[in-house]
Amino acid sequence: MAHERFHFHSLEELLVKAGELGVEIPAQEDVSVLAQAIYIGKHRAPNRLAIHPMEGCDGTSDGRPDELTIRRYLRFARGGAGLLWFEATAVVAEGRANPRQLWLNRATAPAFRALLEQALAAGRAANGADYRPFTVLQLTHSGRYSRPVDKPAPIIAHHDGVLDQIMGIPPDQPLISDEELDRLQDHYLDAARLAYECGFDGIDLKSCHRYLISELLAAHTRPGRYGGSFENRTRLLCELVRRIRAELPELVVAVRMNVYDGHPYPWGWGVSREDPAIPDLSEPLRLIGLLKELGVPLINVTAGNPYFTPHINRPFDRNVIGGYTPEEHPLQGVARLIDLARQVKAAHPDVVVVGTGYSWLRQFMGQVAAAVVARGWADLVGLGRGAFAYPDFARDLLSQGTLDPRKVCITCSSCTQIMRDHGRSGCVPLDRHVYGPIYAAGRRAH
Ligand SMILES: Cc1cc2nc3c(=O)[nH]c(=O)nc-3n(C[C@H](O)[C@H](O)[C@H](O)COP(=O)(O)O)c2cc1C
Repeated sequence: MAHERFHFHSLEELLVKAGELGVEIPAQEDVSVLAQAIYIGKHRAPNRLAIHPMEGCDGTSDGRPDELTIRRYLRFARGGAGLLWFEATAVVAEGRANPRQLWLNRATAPAFRALLEQALAAGRAANGADYRPFTVLQLTHSGRYSRPVDKPAPIIAHHDGVLDQIMGIPPDQPLISDEELDRLQDHYLDAARLAYECGFDGIDLKSCHRYLISELLAAHTRPGRYGGSFENRTRLLCELVRRIRAELPELVVAVRMNVYDGHPYPWGWGVSREDPAIPDLSEPLRLIGLLKELGVPLINVTAGNPYFTPHINRPFDRNVIGGYTPEEHPLQGVARLIDLARQVKAAHPDVVVVGTGYSWLRQFMGQVAAAVVARGWADLVGLGRGAFAYPDFARDLLSQGTLDPRKVCITCSSCTQIMRDHGRSGCVPLDRHVYGPIYAAGRRAH
């Protein structure tokens, strides 16, 4: 069905559209279910709303949170969500996605601890002394999307017939070796230890969006110990969980996972071998089962590639400049993401599942989130872009039962455009005094 922009004045109109499209978008007026606390291991998240990891590309050159990073997390914590999932943070310099990506190491750790403490204090000041969100720090290696200095420096786990061509990666570029992957485990372990010392409740071994671990999951064509069989492709992730759990049993190990890449086999993960447009979750669900046995209680479900298939990753009204207009209606993308989380929850009811892809629903996201949680299709629902635009969304939704339509994300892709232009990212339309000039400067330079 043809793409169109959001134009709905009521929830009913939106549901009629979903009906026309033949997709299932549940909704209910009563959002009180979102105010229920939930336990993740022995930690309590005070409500069912989450803020997804959202990179601002605004750390210092040595990887510490900087002024705008701190501002962002103070705003997020004041907003009262039950779970704050801190953004992609590199475990090694060469795996940074941009020269301002956060990087956790012994030297930068005190700044992360200060960030967390300041955010939690701001959250208490705004929401009451009892407010204590569950906190996760996302650890990453950007793999083929590494750009630690000023130009791309891809580190690939396997050659990819589609992405290599788009990215200009030559066929003879060597793969990251098995020995390098073995050593990388130690860096993840160091970062997990530091995150624990900083006071985070959990870490996320980022396994999505085609960064390194996500690419490894699809390394069908890779030789050696980390490629080919399911066991080999999932080795790095499973080994990391095993080692971190053994050393840091108090630290929650979570995984943000692409359960569907939308990318053709033999380079895709969670896809039908015949047709990448069709999800096949048999391997992702098997992996989540293994992770659960290894002690992972929390899965954040996501999909697609933000550079190559952004409509799968984040349904939008407008793409970045020069980007394609998808064939599908954004509601189909939203419904797909809801269904993917539902499939994970159905297969693994005892895993806490966070759902993704709700920003396009604007002021109606709360009604849909409530119905999803009430039906047990996900335990928490997060906002990514929506949290840039409207960091207080959780408090408004929980206290008033509605969101202010003037404050919601309009999925205009300006936040992504800033990233593409190598600026510091945030909401251009609704946080204009900070991000308007950054956006304009980025556009002038590119
Ligand atoms: C500017 C920007 C930065 C992002 N940074 C991260 C990140 O650090 N880690 C991650 O897993 N996803 C990241 N994402 C993806 C979002 O967390 C989220 O999955 C996506 O935007 C879809 O959710 P939404 O519809 O609520 O925006 C980012 C997305 C955008 C637009």
